[in-house]
Amino acid sequence: MANIKIVEAAIRSYIEGNNIPLIDVLDKEIVESKKRGNHHKVKRLKELLKLLPNKQKYIAQTNSFANSFQTELSPLYQRVISNIPLESVVLNKFAQETISRLLSEWEKYEMLARHNIYPTNKLLLYGPPGTGKTMLAYALAYKLNMPLILVRLDEVISSYLGKTGKNIREIFHIAEKENVVILLDEIDTIAKNRDDERELGELKRVVTVLLQNIDNFPNNSILIGATNHESILDKAIWRRFTIKVQFDNPSEELRKLLFKHYLEGFKSDIDLSLISKLSEGLNGSAIKDICVDIKKRVVLSGKSTIRSVDAIQVILLMSNYANSQNKIPKKKYYSLCKILRQHGMTLSEISSISDIPYTTLRDNL
Ligand SMILES: Nc1ncnc2c1ncn2[C@@H]1O[C@H](COP(=O)(O)OP(=O)(O)O)[C@@H](O)[C@H]1O
Ligand SMILES: [Mg+2]
Repeated sequence: MANIKIVEAAIRSYIEGNNIPLIDVLDKEIVESKKRGNHHKVKRLKELLKLLPNKQKYIAQTNSFANSFQTELSPLYQRVISNIPLESVVLNKFAQETISRLLSEWEKYEMLARHNIYPTNKLLLYGPPGTGKTMLAYALAYKLNMPLILVRLDEVISSYLGKTGKNIREIFHIAEKENVVILLDEIDTIAKNRDDERELGELKRVVTVLLQNIDNFPNNSILIGATNHESILDKAIWRRFTIKVQFDNPSEELRKLLFKHYLEGFKSDIDLSLISKLSEGLNGSAIKDICVDIKKRVVLSGKSTIRSVDAIQVILLMSNYANSQNKIPKKKYYSLCKILRQHGMTLSEISSISDIPYTTLRDNL
C-alpha cells in the first residue's frame, strides 16, 4: 500500500510548485528503511529521488531574506550583503553560548593571530527545516561585517562531468582572496554518505575534493555548512567541522520569544504564554508566517489591536496547511478550539477554520 506521507508530500510538492516537501519525506523514508534493513525499498526510493530536480530549493531559499541584497551574479554562487541582526535569531541556550564564544574569538582575531592561532571558522548547523539555520548564517555574516557567499550546490554538481572539482575550487578560492562567510546550505546534497550507490564515481571524487578544500580553508574566512539531514551526511565531512550546532523545533520558551519577536510593534491582547504552550510542533518559520498573517489581517481590517481570538484562528488555519512534522498535536489543537468557543464562536464557525468536523467538535468541546 502506498505510504500516505509520501502521497501527501507529493501533492504538496505539486501544489507548491517545488520538490522540497517530497524530497524531505523521501530522504527520511530512505533513512528509516535503511535502519529496518529494507534494501529493496531503499533502492526503489533512491531511484525516485533521482528523478526529482531540486533546483527550486535554492530559488526559494535565497529569496526568503528580502532585506539582504545581492551584489554579484555567478552561476555558482550569490554574493549577499546581509542585514539580518543576530538578535533577531531566536536560539536555544547552547547555540547562543556557542555562537557568542565564536564571535568573541573573532573579535580578538589580531591578538590570536600574533601567536599564530586563529578563531574557529568551520561551523556546521544541523536540525529540522525552518528552525533558523540559514538565517543564523546570514546573521553571522552581518555581525562579522563580511559578505556572504551563498553557494548553489545544485549548480556546482550538476555541471559537466569532471567540472565539479574545478567549481568547488573556484568557490573556495574566494575565501583566500578576501574575508567572507561561505555558506554551503543543504550540504548533504553534495556530501551524502559515500557508501550510497548513487554517489559512486564522480560524486565520490567530489567529496574528496570538498574534503581537501575544507582542510585547506584559510583562517581569515568562515565556512558554514547547514543540513536538515545530518544522518546522510558524509562522516568525514561531518568531522571536518570544528563546531556543530544542533537546531531543534523550538521549545515552549523559544516559541514565546518567537511570537513576541514577530508580533513586536503591534498592540495585542494575546496571552503569549498560553499561545506558546498550545503551539507545540510549530517551528520558527511557521510562527513567523502565522505572525505576518495575523498582522496583515489587523492592518487590513483597520483595527488597532490584535485580538487573541483572531490570532488563534490564524494559528489553526495555518497549522492545517503545515506538513505533518510541523503540526500542532490534536490535544492542543482541541484546546485552541475550546478557547475560540469561550470567545463566543459557534461550533460551525470553528469547524470551518479547523480541520475538525462539526459533530466531532460538538462531542468533544
Ligand atoms: N530560530 C529562529 N529565529 C527567528 N526566526 C526564525 C527562526 N527559525 C526560523 N525563523 C524564520 O523562518 C524563516 C526560515 O528559516 P530558515 O533559517 O530558512 O530555516 P532553516 O535554514 O533551518 O530551514 C527565517 O527567515 C525566519 O524568518
Ligand atoms: Mg535553510
